[in-house]
Amino acid sequence: MTVPGPIRDGGPPPRHREPSAATTVVGVIGDPVAHSLSPLLHNTAFAEMGLDWVSTGFRVVAGRTAEALVGAMALGIRGLSVTMPHKEPVAELVEDLSPLAARLGAVNCLVGGRAGWRGENTDGAGLVAALRRGDRFDPAGHRCLVVGAGGAARSVIAALAGAGAAEVVVVNRSAARARAALALAGPVGRIGGAEDAPDSDLVVNATPVGMAGGRTGTADTEPVAPWPLDPSRLHAGQVVVDLIYHPAETAWMEAAAGQGASVSNGLGMLVHQAALQVAAWTGAEPPLEAMWRAVGGGSHAGHPSPGVA
Ligand SMILES: NC(=O)c1ccc[n+]([C@@H]2O[C@H](COP(=O)([O-])OP(=O)(O)OC[C@H]3O[C@@H](n4cnc5c(N)ncnc54)[C@H](OP(=O)(O)O)[C@@H]3O)[C@@H](O)[C@H]2O)c1
Repeated sequence: MTVPGPIRDGGPPPRHREPSAATTVVGVIGDPVAHSLSPLLHNTAFAEMGLDWVSTGFRVVAGRTAEALVGAMALGIRGLSVTMPHKEPVAELVEDLSPLAARLGAVNCLVGGRAGWRGENTDGAGLVAALRRGDRFDPAGHRCLVVGAGGAARSVIAALAGAGAAEVVVVNRSAARARAALALAGPVGRIGGAEDAPDSDLVVNATPVGMAGGRTGTADTEPVAPWPLDPSRLHAGQVVVDLIYHPAETAWMEAAAGQGASVSNGLGMLVHQAALQVAAWTGAEPPLEAMWRAVGGGSHAGHPSPGVA
C-alpha cells in the first residue's frame, strides 16, 4: 500500500478540510447511529492522509437497507461502514461478498465500485490486529476462549481460528447459537464453559454484559447476569479483552485486572476495524496512531487501554 501525502511526525493535528462539491463521501449506516465513533475515526484518518474525503452517519431504520444501498450507490458514496441492524441484511443483499463476509453472513464494510457494492467484514481482523499491536499477543498457537456467539463473537471466532489459534473455545448462554458459531472455528473449535477459562491464554467477552445502558436479558423480566464469565477463574499471564468500550472499563475488566490478567477494552478492535475500512476504501495505509488518539486511547502500541490497570 502507498501513503499519499507527507507523513506527519508530531506537531498540531491536521485541519479537516471543509467539504466541497468535489469531496468524496463515505459514511456509516445504522440505527441508532448518532453515537457512532466511526465518522470520527474515518475523518481523522482522511485529514492525516491529506485526502479530500469526509465520513458521516446515516440513520437507516431496519427494513430500509436495500433502499439505502441503492440510494448511496446512486449518490456516488464510495464506502459505507455497516452497523446494527444492517450487518446481516446487507450480506443477503450484496452479491459480491468477500469469502469471510459470506461465511459470517455479515458485512461491516461496503466498498463502492463500478459494478456495485462489495461486502467485507473487518471486525475479527480488527481484534486480531489490536491484539498483536496493542496487547503484544499473537493468537497463533494459543488457547483462546470467546464468551458469546452473536455477530461480534462470530467474527472474532473466525478470525482467531484464521490467525492460527491452537484452540478456540466457544462459551455461550444458548447452546444452539454456540453450535452455529462453532462452525466458524473449524477443527480447532469446541464448545466449552467457564471451567475452561483458567487454561486459556486469551479470554474475550463478546457479550453486551457490562455495557453502559445495555439490556442483556432476552426479556424485561429476565435477570441480568453480573459477569460474562466468573472473573475468579482468570489469572496473571492471561490476556483478557472485553469488546465493550463504553464504559471504558467494565466491572468485569476491573475484576480481571484484580486477578492479575492483562486487560484491554474494545477500543483497539474499534480502531483497527475502522482502519481496515479506510484501507479498503482508499487503498492507502491508515494512520493508526492518530486514529487511536482520536478516540482517547493515548499511544496505542504496547499500552493498556485508558483506565485499565
Ligand atoms: N469493540 C468493537 O469494535 C465491537 C464491535 C462489535 C460489537 N462489540 C460489542 O460486542 C458486544 C456483542 O455485540 P453483538 O453485536 O455480537 O451482539 P449480539 O449479536 O446481540 O450477541 C450477543 C451475545 O451475547 C450473549 N448474551 C447477551 N446477554 C447475555 C447475558 N445476560 N448473559 C450471557 N450472555 C448474554 C448472547 O447470548 P445468546 O446467544 O444466548 O442470546 C449472544 O451470544 C456488544 O457489547 C457490542 O458493543 C464491540
